[in-house]
Amino acid sequence: MTGRGRFTAHVLRRKALSQATTMLVTERPAGFPEAEPGTFVSFLAGEGASSILRRPFGIMDLSADAITFVVKVVGAGSRWLAGRAAGDAVDFVGPLGGRLFAPPPAGRAVFVAGGTGLAPMIFAARSWRRRGLLERGVLLFGASCEEELMRGALEDEFDETHFATIDGSAGFEGDVVSLFASLLDDGSLAAGGMLYSCGPSGMVRALCERAGTAFEGHETSLETVMACGVGACRGCTAPLRGTDRFAAVCSDGPVFDADGIDWEGWDR
Ligand SMILES: Cc1cc2nc3c(=O)[nH]c(=O)nc-3n(C[C@H](O)[C@H](O)[C@H](O)COP(=O)(O)OP(=O)(O)OC[C@H]3O[C@@H](n4cnc5c(N)ncnc54)[C@H](O)[C@@H]3O)c2cc1C
Ligand code: FES
Repeated sequence: MTGRGRFTAHVLRRKALSQATTMLVTERPAGFPEAEPGTFVSFLAGEGASSILRRPFGIMDLSADAITFVVKVVGAGSRWLAGRAAGDAVDFVGPLGGRLFAPPPAGRAVFVAGGTGLAPMIFAARSWRRRGLLERGVLLFGASCEEELMRGALEDEFDETHFATIDGSAGFEGDVVSLFASLLDDGSLAAGGMLYSCGPSGMVRALCERAGTAFEGHETSLETVMACGVGACRGCTAPLRGTDRFAAVCSDGPVFDADGIDWEGWDR
């Protein structure tokens, strides 16, 4: 990827998507290159010693003059970032990532997301739609409850959207993989085409098991704790199935063939 660098950008606007999650739109700084879905940047997220390690956040949308992110507050860094207001400056390094999502060869895609895994799925659908590479996109999105469904982030990028909530407050009651299974079983979700996912490892692992070979392929963007973000520290490794090798999620991924990950090794 060319044009990677350290950038400063001002926040253009922010919007609360739920109690814990904020959509942050920044300027696209001069020189920030085009980026494929799955790309992330690493933010300086705070002041003082706690901000030494940058925090990775995926791009949810990239236009000629703006970059959109979704930030869920889980600790000090994300709280600091989510608290930036219009006019504040943020500092990030990017675009980062080695392997990114590839568009569906036949134009048909099913996207399965959990939590903030929604961000790269939205970027993929919008970006491929704009370039005429997505004919039909179906989103299955799971969250703990209705409020966390972040409906305010969605526009009309998907042809069909199905929600699952663990507490049953909206959509299917249960997790998103059970929703996926029930839609496949009753024939309302067509197999074939490409499967794309992003979410907690347990979700993706269960999705691999349930999808089997029903799709052309299954690409997933992995979520790990990162330090350097550029392949130098080996602090973000994932075990590869059938080998004794580990991939660096930040620079070999974050996108991988989901079936190529040793999920049992990952959970150990
Ligand atoms: C490629 C990539 C893209 C990401 N995109 C987004 C995004 O679009 N929106 C978003 O809200 N978050 C995203 N994350 C997760 C985000 O980087 C972490 O939530 C953030 O770094 C936490 O920082 P913190 O200082 O708030 O929390 P910390 O105090 O560092 O950690 C708080 C808790 O979160 C856990 N945690 C820390 N980092 C991660 C991580 N990377 N993945 C999972 N758990 C973590 C810690 O183990 C701890 O339990 C992404 C992560 C990666 C690797
Ligand atoms: S975070 Fe350092 S190698 Fe990935």
